[in-house]
Amino acid sequence: MGTGQQSIQHEPAGQFEATRFEKIHNVIFDDSKEGSLQVAREISDLIRDRASKGLQCILGLATGSSPIKVYEELVRMHREEGLSFKNVVTFNLDEYHPMEKANIQSYHYFMHQHLFDHVDIPAENVHIPDGTIPSYVVQEYCRAYEREIEKAGGLDFQLLGIGRTGHIGFNEPGSHFNSATRDITLDHITRVDAAGSFKGLENVPRKAITMGIGTIRKAKRIVLMAWGQNKSEIVKETVEGEISSEVPATYLQEHPNTTFVLDKEAAQNLTRIDTPWLVQSCDWTKDLTHKAVVWLSQRKGKPILQLTDKDYNDNGMSDLLSTEESSYEINIRTFNRLQHTITGWPGGKPGSDDSNRPERAEPAKKRVIIFSPHPDDDVISMGGTFDRLVSQGHEVHIVYQTSGNIAVADHEVLKVAEVANSIQPTAYFEQVIQDLGNKTDMDFDSEAVRKVKGSIRRSESYGATRYMGIPDSQVHFLDLPFYETGTIKKNPLGEQDIQIMNDIIEKIKPHQIYAAGDLADPHGTHRVCLEALFASLDVLKSKPFMEECWVWLYRGAWHEWDTHEIEMAVPMSPEQVLRKRKAIFFHQTQKDGVMFQGEDLREFWVRAEDRNKETAQRYQSLGLASYAAMEAFVRYDFYKK
Ligand code: F6R
Repeated sequence: MGTGQQSIQHEPAGQFEATRFEKIHNVIFDDSKEGSLQVAREISDLIRDRASKGLQCILGLATGSSPIKVYEELVRMHREEGLSFKNVVTFNLDEYHPMEKANIQSYHYFMHQHLFDHVDIPAENVHIPDGTIPSYVVQEYCRAYEREIEKAGGLDFQLLGIGRTGHIGFNEPGSHFNSATRDITLDHITRVDAAGSFKGLENVPRKAITMGIGTIRKAKRIVLMAWGQNKSEIVKETVEGEISSEVPATYLQEHPNTTFVLDKEAAQNLTRIDTPWLVQSCDWTKDLTHKAVVWLSQRKGKPILQLTDKDYNDNGMSDLLSTEESSYEINIRTFNRLQHTITGWPGGKPGSDDSNRPERAEPAKKRVIIFSPHPDDDVISMGGTFDRLVSQGHEVHIVYQTSGNIAVADHEVLKVAEVANSIQPTAYFEQVIQDLGNKTDMDFDSEAVRKVKGSIRRSESYGATRYMGIPDSQVHFLDLPFYETGTIKKNPLGEQDIQIMNDIIEKIKPHQIYAAGDLADPHGTHRVCLEALFASLDVLKSKPFMEECWVWLYRGAWHEWDTHEIEMAVPMSPEQVLRKRKAIFFHQTQKDGVMFQGEDLREFWVRAEDRNKETAQRYQSLGLASYAAMEAFVRYDFYKK
């Protein structure tokens, strides 16, 4: 898997046979960066090849988060390697309708911001559906768009992302195999996914103009990219499911030259990755055996210690039995490994044998950093463990990586400004009130407003950390610069971000670091915060104090680790569940109708409680002890990475 050099070229007909479940050629990379570089390489090779023959290169392009790194790399190649776009003609897949070109949410704006403004493509070669076209001529406009593509000689290459509905372009479920460019009503899930960028579902357009499935299928080569856990279900359905208009991307199964380029998270549900024993013979490592037995127990609905040889044989795991002792011994080993993950002493149990515990007993009092991407992930994701660490006498530091300011609603700022002004009017809050009054949907927050938003989140955080019993001097706000754009779109991680991370780690010299390993965060902030930590660990790992430092990853509000992955499970009593709930309540601006709700309508504290309860139930159903709730962690060994 995932070497920087691996080719994404489609194998010649007949040679592609990954497993019997897969119907679309796919290549999996360690991360989206590696995958994007290969896609950019294929596009640049094509552009150069066509140029060397004196031909134009006709590209179909996509917007959204998936192609951003491809465009970044193409721009780099243009600047540093002389890649010219003079012979390139582009047709974008889609545009919201209605939509002004200058609107920062428009795909027109996106394409110029990410690609066209930075390369030498002639302006007349760029085609993006026009979101300002009046509805009564839209059909004629769409027919003309199709004709333009044909006149150019058809698409040589089509770049795609995939929506969670299985849409390509904006061909939502129900789209016809032969559909052409047309206007379409957006699916509810698509609008929910876009709601964050539009600051609320009600602002997301209901319609769009999109190339059709038929238009896309005529491309000579198609590359679809999908990154992150959020896409893993739809990727599996598309690659392994039946062709159906319910999942329009499945139509690509019939295209002879399509490749899906995936990262590990997006590929994780494919059968050959998730349950490889069902499709091929396996190298039964300890971890794979553990995963398979946990899976078998869940599948059979039986506690681990009750699984039989027959269960193994019936579920693709017979070769495990032939190389190992008997199901009985494998069951016991799996059961013990799970049992050893459970501890009420997340900082280690002083003075006790720690050979079968997740954490070291010594030093008895540890310095701990809990990194929290936003000001509230600490209590949402690991409030119970946080509580135990404090009550067991460890020196716990909470480090908020970003200000979280964009997630505060304007009315919260108005409230603060009006309260402050009603006591003592100040020019500052006058300005804030004025800025809010002048703000339209298309505007960013003013500096003054952003400051108040950040400050509100700080006060809320202090409320929670004081409740948990730690002094303010152990609460740190990094306000990492990559986040401070005032919009959903963030800057790339920079030297300064990593330096700030290095400084705080060096200052505290922790024995334990907890951090969000939550890769499904829709805005990617958790992901970037994790990248910042990994980059920092890489810099610091040669320092002697780091040899004492263990890193534990928790998952944020959106997902939990799979049971077989968990290396430390911290149980919570019913009282601790309530304490955690109360700590979360201090983050009032994130309660009752938060700005970035996503599709899951439960509030954060409910999600956290449900998830912790589910983890406990999963342990119970595997045959382990029954707790009210559990928080789960995976260890990250930065020396091995
Ligand atoms: C964009 C487009 C859409 C996106 C899809 C995935 O032009 O047509 O099909 O490719 O919605 O979006 P991201 O990449 O943002 O997850």
